[in-house]
Amino acid sequence: MTVLVAHRADLEELGSPAGRSAVVMTMGALHDGHAALVRAGRGLVGAQGRVLVTVFVNPRQFGAGEDFARYPRTLEEDIAIAGEAGADVVFAPDVTEVYPPEGTPAAAITVEPGRLGSELEGASRPGHFAGVLTVVAKLLHMTRPDLALFGEKDYQQLVLIRAMAQALDFPVDIVGIPTVREADGLAMSSRNRYLSSSARDAASAIPRALRVGQEHAAGGAQAVESVVRRALEEATASAAVPMTVDYVAVRSLDLGAPPRSGEARLLTAVVVDGTRLLDNLPLTLGPP
Ligand code: PAF
Repeated sequence: MTVLVAHRADLEELGSPAGRSAVVMTMGALHDGHAALVRAGRGLVGAQGRVLVTVFVNPRQFGAGEDFARYPRTLEEDIAIAGEAGADVVFAPDVTEVYPPEGTPAAAITVEPGRLGSELEGASRPGHFAGVLTVVAKLLHMTRPDLALFGEKDYQQLVLIRAMAQALDFPVDIVGIPTVREADGLAMSSRNRYLSSSARDAASAIPRALRVGQEHAAGGAQAVESVVRRALEEATASAAVPMTVDYVAVRSLDLGAPPRSGEARLLTAVVVDGTRLLDNLPLTLGPP
């Protein structure tokens, strides 16, 4: 049975599991992508271990004018999905249990993501990754897991969380789990709930464009970026809803400059009818 724990004090009372513990951090509105993270966590810690899911819509990672107020809040369903996927505990704290009172010195302390925090997603969402890293650091301290699992769908977030764990000596293994996709390839995301059926149709062009990019990987990073941009521009021109490409980028695995050949990552963000959708794929660049 999955236990709902709303308060930090109750979390302390759970005591230590017989085996290792894993955490899956979410903002709720769970879908099959989250369930895959929970199942992977269970697989890694085994039956004796503990899998804990956090549900917290973190105000600090939303900018002014973003969707914090309307972000879907579906706690009852989330508990059921988490439990079915193998979670033991759902920790859903209130904002006052996560953050110190505004105006206090402690409320002003944040984790600074460095230069990568203002590139790609960070260029359009200033302060977003400081908000993400701050809450992830806090939730890691509160839950003290051996493993923390994050989806590759938010690849830049995963890279930055790994970098934070390394830089600040968090005693936790950060595990990345491949993106779970809908039948037509669209990456699963809680924000897909915002899409009307015409926006949903338009959004299916995103994974198709990335796959075209993958097919051109032998031509190098610039060739990949231009075919993906072209494919997305064509999709934008024929879409029944407004669609804007924010970026298409090929980067190294840790999101530095792309190598001439070898392993790399292709990333994009596209705003479809007001909903920001992210996706990325692995690539092997250059001639073999
Ligand atoms: O990926 C998310 O859902 C959020 O950014 C996270 C990691 C739960 C932090 O709020």
